Amino acid sequence: MKLTPEQLAQFDRDGYLFFPSLFSAEEMAVLKGELPSIYSQHRPEIIRERGSDAVRTVFAAHLMNEAFAKLGRHPRMIEPVTQIFGEQVYMHQYKINGKQAFDGDVWQWHQDYGTWKADDDMPDARAMNVSVFLDEVNEFNGPLLFIPGSHKHGAIDASHDLSTTSYPLWTIDNATITKLVERGGIVAPKGPAGSMMLFHSCLVHGSPSNMSPWHRNIVYLSLCAVSNHIRQFKRADWIAHRDFTPIEALPDNCLTDRSVRINTLPLAQAA
Ligand code: SIN
Ligand code: MN
Repeated sequence: MKLTPEQLAQFDRDGYLFFPSLFSAEEMAVLKGELPSIYSQHRPEIIRERGSDAVRTVFAAHLMNEAFAKLGRHPRMIEPVTQIFGEQVYMHQYKINGKQAFDGDVWQWHQDYGTWKADDDMPDARAMNVSVFLDEVNEFNGPLLFIPGSHKHGAIDASHDLSTTSYPLWTIDNATITKLVERGGIVAPKGPAGSMMLFHSCLVHGSPSNMSPWHRNIVYLSLCAVSNHIRQFKRADWIAHRDFTPIEALPDNCLTDRSVRINTLPLAQAA
């Protein structure tokens, strides 16, 4: 999938692109069908919400499950990013964020590159999130909030919040967020399951809690230009991967074509 010159200009200006219903209901059903068996596992890669058994994040799902492994090599996700970077990419991080009905907790305002720089010594912001909605995302179930244009400020000072949620995050203070929002406003891309978002690693974002009766499962691939690989290996390798092999995309119908197989998944054995 190739981005048009207009989409490239929009990405440069706003720091994100949104593609409603890019994947079909059939393709999403393949992925959603795998969630119960993944979520029932208790293993270090699966982070629960504070004080509850609800799944907050499944790290490295592409190393434990074949359908999610295929998504991690899907041409609709990989090709736009290699186009923007003009270089092949590797998987820096892969996660499914559960944001479960009633229990899904907040993600504070942050930039992903802030964490990748501070914790992983990633040289430049040449890494990108590409995400797919596994459920409809609406105004009630904790949509992702973006501050358009905020990626133009580069890495912004952040502090390490170890207490607000079950997952530590480098977060941005309210005074800075106020200034950024005065300039760029806030947008919340919403749409059916199968919608895809692509956003710059310096784009400031967060999401409110999910008070609704509807789950909001989203899968995130964080793809890094191969030459920009991380230099520091402080975090677990299932959070910040150390395999810098360029991703080779699979055929476009890989999710629904059962003859496309990925046979070796290092974390496939339930812990
Ligand atoms: C993230 O910023 O990494 C996740 C936010 C969300 O899934 O709501
Ligand atoms: Mn983030």
